[in-house]
Amino acid sequence: MRNELKRGFASDNNAGIHPEVLIAIQNANIGHCIAYGDDIYTQNAIYKIKEHFGEDIDVYFMFNGTGSNVLGLKMLTESYNSIICAETAHINVDECGAPEKFTGCKLLSVPTENGKLTIEKIKYHMHDFGFEHHSQPKIISIAQVTELGTVYTPDEIKEISSYAHENGIFVHMDGARLCNAAVSLDRSLREVTVDAGIDALSFGLTKNGAMNAEAIIFFNKKMSENFKYYRKQGMQLASKMRFMAVQFETLLTNDLWKKNAEHANKMAKLLVEKVSKFPQIKITQTVEANGVFAIVPSEIIPKLQKEFFFYMWDENRSEVRWMTSFDTTEEDIDEFIEQLKSLLK
Ligand SMILES: Cc1ncc(COP(=O)(O)O)c(C=O)c1O
Repeated sequence: MRNELKRGFASDNNAGIHPEVLIAIQNANIGHCIAYGDDIYTQNAIYKIKEHFGEDIDVYFMFNGTGSNVLGLKMLTESYNSIICAETAHINVDECGAPEKFTGCKLLSVPTENGKLTIEKIKYHMHDFGFEHHSQPKIISIAQVTELGTVYTPDEIKEISSYAHENGIFVHMDGARLCNAAVSLDRSLREVTVDAGIDALSFGLTKNGAMNAEAIIFFNKKMSENFKYYRKQGMQLASKMRFMAVQFETLLTNDLWKKNAEHANKMAKLLVEKVSKFPQIKITQTVEANGVFAIVPSEIIPKLQKEFFFYMWDENRSEVRWMTSFDTTEEDIDEFIEQLKSLLK
């Protein structure tokens, strides 16, 4: 049995709730509120989100990132469409086929070295429009931060979205770690999404210190006219929505989202700086946010995992993933390094 209470580097989802968020939930826990989002907390959270992303948007709170991705994609497609994404995309490998099941679409995946799509790679799938034997590409889905811990620059996103729009298709962003990407680029949330041409954003705050608080944002209200029905059919309509909403309001006020993401990213930089000193460890991706990918001698991995649980990324090449979060401390890293030192002697 693992020591579940120990902070490790397995996932930013393994962290708890940020104390200020927990207080906000507690403060919202008074009296009765109209259910299903018809309440002042939800209204305030939507105002707050609009402060960050602009007025002319449509926002829906969701329980999880998979739900945001799947229903966001569902809204923008028909079952004869296809969705282009990286081979490593969460929608492709970590959602148990839910995007295919609920949208009926074919996912067209693209191998990448660093989790990032490029127009060249996307072009491979952009053919046979109007040909009834071929699924019709309708969405390019990118993740920001990518599943390999890398970050698209606003120019890279703009290039993809211009190309998509020129070809009459949409761009969806899986922003489960959008906050980490924005602070990494020193840009606002808006600059790396709507201003860069994104049409629909799965905006996650769970990894930033919230508890099951995610949203799908459509940047063109015409696209999402009937989304409320899809959300209900998709079982993502929360009755006690106020408790999700206050988390958004709290994290998006006084830059708490930024502080949390900055801290997580800083801890990843510190971790990579320290592990890089071991010649037996090879870092495989540029650390641009809060994930570190490394090839580690296979014989020490189970022993290291016993103390600090983390996931294998690619068993075949002995590659692991270490994630930092808003509550990672320098002491956690020092302790981890000490453990590594003793195992690599
Ligand atoms: C890139 C990415 N997208 C989406 C999600 C959301 O997944 P969940 O449905 O577990 O909230 C995750 C969670 O790990 C993720 O890493």
